[in-house]
Order: sequence, then C-alpha cells, then structure tokens
Amino acid sequence: MSVSRAGKTGGTAGGSAGGATGTAACRWPWLPFVDLALAMALVPGFLLGALTAAAPVLPVDTGAWYAAARQAHGHAQLMGWGGAMILGVGLNFLPRFRGAGLPPPGRVRLLFAAFAAGLSLRVLAQPLAALAVPGGGPRGAGPWPALLRGATAAGALLEAAAVAGLVALLVTTLRQGPPLARKRAFAEMLPFLAAAAGGLLLAVGAWAWGSIGMEGPGGILVRARWDLLAVHAAVLVLVPAISVGMSVRLFPLYLRLEPARPGWARASALFFLAALAALVLSVPLGGGTWFYGAGAACSGAGLLAGCAAVRVFERRRAFPGDQGRYRAWADPVAVGAVTAYGWGVLGALGALLYALDRWPAARSPWPRVGFDLVVHLLGAGFMTLLIIGIGAVLLPGFGGGKPGSRALLWTAVLLANAAAALRVVPGLMSAAAGSAPPWTLPVTAWAGVLGVAAAGVFTLYLRSSWPRPTGRVLTSP
Ligand code: HEM
Repeated sequence: MSVSRAGKTGGTAGGSAGGATGTAACRWPWLPFVDLALAMALVPGFLLGALTAAAPVLPVDTGAWYAAARQAHGHAQLMGWGGAMILGVGLNFLPRFRGAGLPPPGRVRLLFAAFAAGLSLRVLAQPLAALAVPGGGPRGAGPWPALLRGATAAGALLEAAAVAGLVALLVTTLRQGPPLARKRAFAEMLPFLAAAAGGLLLAVGAWAWGSIGMEGPGGILVRARWDLLAVHAAVLVLVPAISVGMSVRLFPLYLRLEPARPGWARASALFFLAALAALVLSVPLGGGTWFYGAGAACSGAGLLAGCAAVRVFERRRAFPGDQGRYRAWADPVAVGAVTAYGWGVLGALGALLYALDRWPAARSPWPRVGFDLVVHLLGAGFMTLLIIGIGAVLLPGFGGGKPGSRALLWTAVLLANAAAALRVVPGLMSAAAGSAPPWTLPVTAWAGVLGVAAAGVFTLYLRSSWPRPTGRVLTSP
C-alpha cells in the first residue's frame, strides 16, 4: 500500500479519501463497482423505466422502442444496480470474512473495465438502436442500426466474459485463508454464495447467448427465450440468495438481532440451489413453463425460510447504553431492512402464486400473478431497500467513513418504498381484479421518477458519509 497526494479521487459515490480518521480507504476492489451501480440505477435503470412507461406520450415507436427499452431497463437494474453492487461488496467483504487476502487490484481493475464497458454498451446501445429503426423497419436502414445492434451484442458478450472472470477471481481468492472448519460462519454462507454465483453466471450466459442473432422488429431484441431465462435466474436466484446469505451474517451486527437460525438458513440456501437446478435443467429439456414454475416455487419457499432465519421481524436486543430509548421504527437502517423483507415476503407469495399459474392443474381458485409483479416486488422492493438500508452502514465502513446524514437516509428509504409501492400497485390490482387499471402507465412512470430520486438521494447520503479529504490518500499499490 502506498501513500500518494491527491485532493480528490472522485467517483459518483464521492471517491475514496484517506480521511480525518487516517483510515485506509482504497478505491479497489469495491468503490468503482458502487459508482457504476449508482449510475446504472439513476439513468438506464429508474429513468429508463419511467420513460418506458411513458412511451405512449413520447415521440418514439411504442412497439419497437418500448420492447428494446424494457429489456435494457431490466438488464440495467439487475446487472447494474444489483449486479455491480453485489460484485463490489462481494469482492471487498467476502475475502475479509473468509480471512483471505483481497484480490489483486490490477486484475480487478482490468475485469471491472471490461464489465463496465460491456454493461454500458449493452444498456445504452439497445434503446438507441431501437430509435435508429423507426417503425422497426426491415432490419433498419443506413449504418446506425447495424452498428448499434452489433454494439448491444458485443456489450452482452464482453459483460458475460468479465463477470465469469470476476467470479473466477473471487473463487480463487476465497480458496485461500484458514481451513473452513475454523471459519464456520463463512462455511454457513457458502451454499448461498454457490446459488448466487450460479444464478449470476446463468443470467449473463443466457443474455449473451440470446444476443447472438437478435430478433424482433429491426433485430434489436435479445431473443425472448433467453431474456426470460436470464431474468428468472437473476430475480429468482441471484437476488434472493445473496440477499438472504448476507442478511444472515450482517443483521446481527447492524440490526441488533439475535444470530440467524441455522436450520432455517440451511433450508433457505437449499431451496435457492433447487431453484437454480430447475432453471438450469430448463435449458437442455426445452425451456419453459414447468421449470419456471418449479424455480419460482423453490425461490418463494427459500425467501420465506430466509425470513424465518434472519428474524428481521422479531424484537431487537437491548444494549446496556440504550436506557430503553432505542426504537427500531425510528432507525432508518432498521426501517430499510424491515420494509425490504416486507417486500420480500410479498415477492415470495407472488412467486408461489406465479408458480401455481405455471401448472395448469393447480391454477383455478388462485389469483393470476404475472412475472412482472414478482420482478418488481423483489427488484424494486426487496433488493432496492436492502441495498439502501444495509448499504448505508456497510459502504461507509468500506470507505473509512461513518454513517452519513440521517435525514438523507430517511428520505432515500421513504422514496424507495414509495417507488416500489407505485410500481407494484397496478400489478397487485390486476392480480386481484383480473385486469390492469387504466392508470397503470402514469402511475408506473411516477414510480420511475421516485426511483430516480431515491437513488439520487442515496448517492448524496454516501457522499455525506465518506471521510473529508485531507490532501493525502492511501492507495493500493
Ligand atoms: C420503481 C421504478 C421502476 C419502474 C418505473 C419500472 C418500469 C418497468 C416497465 C415499464 C417495464 C416493462 C413492463 C412490461 O412491458 O410489461 C419493466 C420491466 C422490467 N423491470 Fe422495471 N421498473 C422499475 C424498477 C425496477 C427494478 C428496481 C428492477 C430490478 C431490480 C426492475 C426490473 C425489471 C425487469 C427485469 C423487467 C423486464 C425486462 C425484460 O423483459 O427483459 N425494474 N419495468
């Protein structure tokens, strides 16, 4: 580790700075991933989600552009807001937790550059390609459509290669350190990590494969079968497995909860591995409905078991210095985590109903739940609130800072909950009443606006939490 002079090392989330505390606050291996996640959430994530919903009143082709923008938005949220955040936190937190050294910064930098370039190409080129083929003409005219289509596919392939490299690097790093028998807490987390890594690799692999020979008007869409598989793998396996796995470890540290129940935690991880197996099997066995139903049922059961494991709805421990004054409902971190799991329970129930809908024999008396509702209960609700709630205490620690402005954190938590509520209410109503209400699109567009605001305020919160630059920063060699 070397010391260098720098006023500010930058980054959306405030850059890294050797702070007033003098603590090492290295950029690598985590901060650029966090910056990328925030940028993805703000622009191609929530903003593009809002624009997609507003497509009927925008000067765009509602068929071709809507479909391309929807795919790009979903990808940016799952691989950017979720995936980049998970990779950055994982690369910094997991090796320390394992008792191993951090991965070599040089290799992380290279793989990050490939990941960021691939992801950005993928999510920016696709909606632009759709604009270049107005009316979805016969595979477009002039050089732009072909160029942008090529950039979308090249981005997806580069991103998949980079993610595979990052996962391999993490696995190599985590093979070091003391014997697992001496690292029981880490060993308990391993099945969650295996499920999450499998879900991540399946998702990026399916997206990359589906981008070879794209389809739809103008050839601007990732092939639907593979896009669907990728979204299922990310939403039903990657997101819940890593979230519950991290909660098992972190909630007792940050939320004054009793240690997780090991039996329920094991059951939860096994359900996520079973969900992964169902989705993997769908590839050689011809895809589709039955396997997605099995994956959704296992994922829903895994999430419910995870809720029982992490005790998030139970009483907080009292600390001697509290004098009875601690109130979970007055703590934005606790409110973030509890509301995240509230969305998680709804998402789990939604996944179980969606599974029933995949099996016609079981269908009739139950409300019909579309996958879009499950995606947004787990993506906009569960995942987003966990990132904000737990990220608010975890990330400042990575940067050698302290939790930042409480007011900003409260604002981010409330805005994110409001965004999730607006995004899922139309889906909940159509599940209950059997048809979508007419105000679905405007309400969804407002959800996107609130989502942009939540991600923006969370970015400001993180800035407020980094130590102030003193002119000297510690950097990695
Ligand atoms: C709260 C703000 C959000 C808004 C306004 C929004 C909007 C939309 C819209 C309009 C669609 C198209 C739906 C359809 O055609 O049926 C969509 C699809 C999707 N959204 Fe969101 N969304 C939001 C948040 C999120 C979040 C946080 C995630 C994930 C973490 C997410 C993941 C997805 C996915 C995966 C799809 C399907 C993409 C595909 O078909 O490939 N969304 N969203």
